[in-house]
Amino acid sequence: MTILTKTCTPFEGQKPGTSGLRKKTRAFMQPDYLECFVQSVFNAIEGVSGKTLVVGGDGRFFNAEAIQTILRMASANGAARVIVGQGGLLSTPAASNLIRQRKADGGLILSASHNPGGIDADFGLKYNIANGGPAPEAITDRIFAETTSLSSYATLETPDLDLDTLGTVALGDMAVEIVDPVTDYAALMQSLFDFDAIRAMFADGLTLRFDAMHAVTGPYATAILEDQLGAPKGTVLNGVPSVDFGKGHPDPNPIWAKPLVDMVMSEDGPDFAAASDGDGDRNMILGKGVYVTPSDSLAVLAANAHLAPGYARGIAGVARSMPTSGACDRVAKAMGVECFETPTGWKFFGNLLDAGRVTLCGEESAGTGSDHVREKDGLWAVLLWLNILAVRKMSVRDILMDHWQTYGRNYYSRHDYEAVDSDAAHGLMADVTARLESLPGQSFRGCEVTSADQFSYHDPVDGSVSHNQGLCLSFKGGGRAVLRLSGTGTEGATLRVYLERYEAPDGDLTIETQAALAEIAGAVAQITDLAARTGRTAPDVMT
Ligand code: G1P
Ligand code: ZN
Repeated sequence: MTILTKTCTPFEGQKPGTSGLRKKTRAFMQPDYLECFVQSVFNAIEGVSGKTLVVGGDGRFFNAEAIQTILRMASANGAARVIVGQGGLLSTPAASNLIRQRKADGGLILSASHNPGGIDADFGLKYNIANGGPAPEAITDRIFAETTSLSSYATLETPDLDLDTLGTVALGDMAVEIVDPVTDYAALMQSLFDFDAIRAMFADGLTLRFDAMHAVTGPYATAILEDQLGAPKGTVLNGVPSVDFGKGHPDPNPIWAKPLVDMVMSEDGPDFAAASDGDGDRNMILGKGVYVTPSDSLAVLAANAHLAPGYARGIAGVARSMPTSGACDRVAKAMGVECFETPTGWKFFGNLLDAGRVTLCGEESAGTGSDHVREKDGLWAVLLWLNILAVRKMSVRDILMDHWQTYGRNYYSRHDYEAVDSDAAHGLMADVTARLESLPGQSFRGCEVTSADQFSYHDPVDGSVSHNQGLCLSFKGGGRAVLRLSGTGTEGATLRVYLERYEAPDGDLTIETQAALAEIAGAVAQITDLAARTGRTAPDVMT
C-alpha cells in the first residue's frame, strides 16, 4: 500500500487545554486540521512505529470520520496495532482501562466530554500515555510545539474500514482489532465491587435511575446495571448514544440533568439516581430528595471505600483539584492518610496514582476516580456508591447527614460565567492578580481577606512545577473563593468562581447552599468588580 506524504501549513491555536484539544466541530472538519494535530501528536511521542494504540470516542458527530482518518495515519506512520471500540465507541475510562490491560503504548480519545455534540457544537481529541492517563504537560507542550512547525503528514488512500464487526483486520501493515467496548470494563468493575450485594439490594426493591444523557455510558450502564446487576429494565434512561446527544448538553449537573433532579426531588422519586457525561468520565449523584455535591461525594467515598472489596485494604491517600472543597481533607486527616491539592485537570493525578501515593481522587466538576484506571470514571463512582448503600443499608440522605455530623460540612458551589468577552475575562484576572498582595487585611461586604495568592503546583513525584493555576482568596472564618478561567471552552472565555465555607459538626448543617455562600459571593463580586467587567449580574450556571 502506498504511503502518501501530504504537505500542510500549520494551523494556529492547536494548543491542548485542560483536557486535550477542544474546538468547534467545523474547525476540526477543515481539510488537514485533524491530520495536522494527529501528526503532531505522533511526532511529539517520537513516532508510532511498531507501537500499539487504543482509539475510540464518545460517538459524537464526526467521531466516525475522524477515527478512519486516525487509523489511516497510524498505519502510514508505522503503528503495529490499533485497538478500536466497536462502532468507534469507547468511554474515556474504558479507553484508559484498555490501554492498561493491553499494555498499549498510548491512545487517542475522541471527545469534547460534557460539551454538546453536532456539526455546530464541539469536538475534541486527547492523547493518553501508556499508564492510561491524559498526557502530562511536558508532552502536551511538545504536541503544541509540533503543531506550530509541521510541514507534512503521512496517510493512506484506502476505503473506510467496517468498525461494526468484531475481529481483526489489516490496514496496510497495521492490524486493526475491533473489540467490544464494554466487556473489559465490566470485568474490571466486577473485580472491584460486591456485585452479589448490589444485586440483592435491587432484588429487595432499591430503585435507581441512571441518566446516560444519550451519550456513551448508555451501553455500559445497560450491560452492568440492568443485565448483570438485575436492576429492572428502564433503570437506564436515554441509554442509546446519539451523535448530538439528543440535542442536549451531556453535562451531569443540576442544570443540564434537571429532569433527573426533578424526579428524585418528587414524592415518588427513586431511592438513588445518577448521571454521566458525553464520554462517561463524569458523574452526578442524587438520593431521594438530595443532591450530593461532587466534593462531598469524594469525601463520602473516601470515608467508605473500604466497604467495597476492591478497596478493603483501605486507601493510601486522596487527591483533589485545588478548587474542589476541602471536605475530603478532613476525611484524610481522620484516617491518617495523605491528601494532595493539584491543579484542575485529571492529568495532574497520574503521577500520584502511579506512585501509589493516592487511591482516590476527584474534582468539584463531577469527576471522581481511583487507581483502577487513570481517568475519572462516572459509572465507577455510581457502583461504589451502590456498594456502600448495599453495606450500610442507609439512604443517601442519611449517609450524607451522618458524614457532616462526623466531619462538618463544607458548603460549596461553583458559579460559571460563560461566553464572557475574552479580553474582559482576562482583564479581570489580570487586575485581581496585580492586587493580590494588597488584598489581605481588607474587608469586602463584611468578609476580611486573610490570604490571596496564585496557585502553583509542585509535583511531589517528578518535581515539575505548574504555575498560574488559579487565584485563591481565603477569608476570616474559613471561607474561600477561587477564580480561574476555563481551559475547555470553545467560545469566548468562561470565568469560574468557586465558593466554599466550612461549618463544624455542631454548627448549622442544613442551610440552603447559595444562602450559606451569599456573603462570600458578594465579596468576590466586589473584589473583582465582576458586574462592570463582565456585564453579568448573575452566573449562567451554578453547580
Ligand atoms: C473542566 C473542569 C475540570 C475538568 C475538565 C475536564 O475544565 O473544570 O475540573 O478536569 O473540565 O473534564 P475547565 O473548563 O475548568 O478548564
Ligand atoms: Zn467527560
